[in-house]
Amino acid sequence: MKSYKMALIPGDGTGPEVVREGVKVLQAVSSKCGFKYETVPYDLGGERYLRTKEALPDSVVSELKKFDAIFLGAIGHPDVRPGILEKGILLRLRFDLDQYINLRPVQLYDEKFCPLKNKKPDDINFVVVRENSEGLYKGMGEFQNKDTPSEVAIQISHNTYKGVERCLRYAFEYTQKYGRKKKLTLCGKTNVLTFAWDLWERVFYKIAKEFPDVKTDYAHVDATTMWFVKNPEWFDVLVTDNMFGDIITDLGAMIQGGMGIAAGGNINPKGVSMFEPIGGSAPKYTGKNVINPLAAICAVGMLLQQLGESKASLMIENSVKNIVRTKLKDLAAGKMGYSTTEVGDLVVKNLS
Ligand code: IPM
Ligand code: MG
Repeated sequence: MKSYKMALIPGDGTGPEVVREGVKVLQAVSSKCGFKYETVPYDLGGERYLRTKEALPDSVVSELKKFDAIFLGAIGHPDVRPGILEKGILLRLRFDLDQYINLRPVQLYDEKFCPLKNKKPDDINFVVVRENSEGLYKGMGEFQNKDTPSEVAIQISHNTYKGVERCLRYAFEYTQKYGRKKKLTLCGKTNVLTFAWDLWERVFYKIAKEFPDVKTDYAHVDATTMWFVKNPEWFDVLVTDNMFGDIITDLGAMIQGGMGIAAGGNINPKGVSMFEPIGGSAPKYTGKNVINPLAAICAVGMLLQQLGESKASLMIENSVKNIVRTKLKDLAAGKMGYSTTEVGDLVVKNLS
């Protein structure tokens, strides 16, 4: 029997509550699908930082490299200055574990949860492949003449051929394998950011020659946000850089029904990947048993898909789809008509 080692990082706020439900579902599918797993919890996040002044020890990073996968709840604490935990934990893990792809499926399960008029589940079903290791997130830049009227703040988007190539290659392979329409859209800004997007575009069309069965398209990022609202049905797989990917996937989350359902994977195709609900720690709902655990449960589905447990992953997806369609009143915290733990139980009950 296959057995997997999984690291759990429940993290801050409602993170632990949703991770608990994710593990509940993992437990249930593992016995149905015949695999075993072992979980090791890691205490990382705001509380630990406030206690120890350390965000992420080097030793933890090395240990995490030995797992088959990581399941993360949320990072972010109201008493810690913005940036410290994000850079110190989440981004550092993405970088140090070389999780160079951020994969974010945008799928509407029921039209009643879509804020757009007349859009059906078939219209909103695409995947964003976000570069996850470079660009503006590299943190390059400087202040000049800080705190003077002539101050200049420089923030550099750093794009390497190697980084762009591996991301685009992943996106082409992903589209060829999973794309519903075998169509890959490059989302960029070639009309203004003429260094970065020149590189992206050149490499995009170069790799495209190796994938004659994948249709290619290009959209500027501003137009992309417009099409997400007006014609989301045009998209199949999109590939973009780190910053644009961050922005358009929040919009993607909204059109699929909100943060309650949006999951993502930080993928290192040859190493350890990390899966998370993309919504954040939602401190005001902490401990109330009202947060929607479906995003975290969907993250477990993605994690299992990455491990090759496709059947288990599909079972989770179908169960989530089913309860979204037939049970939940709303996908937002406190409005579901069920508590966090009840939603987890419903997913387990509907696994088949
Ligand atoms: C995300 C988040 C993070 C990001 C933050 C929390 C650093 O917004 O995963 O999209 O910007 O990547
Ligand atoms: Mg974001």
